[in-house]
Amino acid sequence: MNKKNKTVWQTRFNNETSLIFQNLGSSIDVDKRLYKQDIESSIVHTSMLGKQKIIDKKKANKIIKGLKKIKNEIKNNKFVFQKKYEDIHLNIEKRLFGIIGDDAGYMHIARSRNDQVITDFKMWLLDATKEIINDLNILIKIIIKKSEKNVKTLMPGFTHLKNAQPISFAHYLLAYVEMFKRDKKRFLNNMENLLENPLGVAALAGTSYKINRSYTSKKLGFKKPTNNSIDTVSDRDFALDFLSSTAICSLHISRVAEELIIWISDAFNLIKLSDKVLTGSSIMPQKKNPDPLELLRGKTGISFGSLNSMLTVLKGLPLSYFKDLQDDKEIVFNSFDNLKKSIVILIEVINNLQPNKKRMLELANEGFTTATDFADYLVQNKKMSFRNAYKASAKLVNYAEKKNKKLNKLSLNEVNNLKLNLSKDVLKVFDIYNSINLKSSYGGTSFKNIKKMIKKYKKEIK
Ligand code: ARG
Repeated sequence: MNKKNKTVWQTRFNNETSLIFQNLGSSIDVDKRLYKQDIESSIVHTSMLGKQKIIDKKKANKIIKGLKKIKNEIKNNKFVFQKKYEDIHLNIEKRLFGIIGDDAGYMHIARSRNDQVITDFKMWLLDATKEIINDLNILIKIIIKKSEKNVKTLMPGFTHLKNAQPISFAHYLLAYVEMFKRDKKRFLNNMENLLENPLGVAALAGTSYKINRSYTSKKLGFKKPTNNSIDTVSDRDFALDFLSSTAICSLHISRVAEELIIWISDAFNLIKLSDKVLTGSSIMPQKKNPDPLELLRGKTGISFGSLNSMLTVLKGLPLSYFKDLQDDKEIVFNSFDNLKKSIVILIEVINNLQPNKKRMLELANEGFTTATDFADYLVQNKKMSFRNAYKASAKLVNYAEKKNKKLNKLSLNEVNNLKLNLSKDVLKVFDIYNSINLKSSYGGTSFKNIKKMIKKYKKEIK
């Protein structure tokens, strides 16, 4: 075998790595996705080595020029990735030797792949995190837009999936906004750990060269260098943070998806989706199924699995680096790709969703949804305790149920069977518009509140 094809450790080895092991050990198919970050961090590392006079500037410039050339080669699909060189770091280093010759050997002074890989990975995750936050912003805006059009669309709110109290459809949608806003915050919080620069801790003990970690931090967009070299090469909490935020965000997406699946069912029939986001059946000609929503729900299982995989990979590892850690990237990349796809699909679904206003209104009146309003009326107008008022209202519901009547169809006489001597104005408590408008406590469903909230969200987001 000629020198050109050797791995960096070949001098120490009597045999080449078996092809069978190469297939397992090589991560290049996955981590080539880090090529931009790898080249950027190598450029900054090299320029730091030059600045610190650890290598001479001419060599540094030669290395940097070579690295830029490699970047172009990869961008233009001219680069041949080889499993033999394991990962993106050694593939690039190998190619650098091919381009600039032996001076390439000065690049890896004062670093190890252990710090290199997490530097690249953290840089990638910073971008990925920003991308997800941006996607969530788009999603939130779409939901707000839908809410604006549906402030006066009335529907039943559910607890236990039983009709509970009348609410505005917009208020419901804005609940999703809160969920996705929390997700955004979670991703944002993760950035604090991501912004600590691992580069320069080398294999695990630090280095004897007079490197400048503040310089590389600044140039690579980190806030500061990490504090402990051993922890640095072992730490994958930042990956866990991303995966757990992703899992929780997916969980939210799944809950929304599940809800919409229920609502689009023939039994509920609360919403309609345009054909753009439905699929047909191969046997039943009449069918229009909400497959995209079901896929969103399903993808969430995969997302939970990713978090669990990473936790499991880490749970048995003493300090510091072990090859087990190599699989972190595949797990995170998959999780990112799935979440991104899911957000895009959810945006498409919401854009293609229409409430079935007639059915919503009908259901809002079903199930005695204003029974609590009646109890509240008795507390507020008859000075009753809530418990007594609750009992009176329960009796009225029993009566209405027996008569097969909705509460808003009862006459004053029937209401006064309760012997509470109520005046005619009591009847308006059974009106669902009235019910909604009375829910004016902060965060409640009154139209006025909703309009204020929409304004607040819009201001926040732009
Ligand atoms: N591809 C490796 C990974 O992702 C890079 C670090 C290799 N370090 C080592 N000591 N073998 O984990």
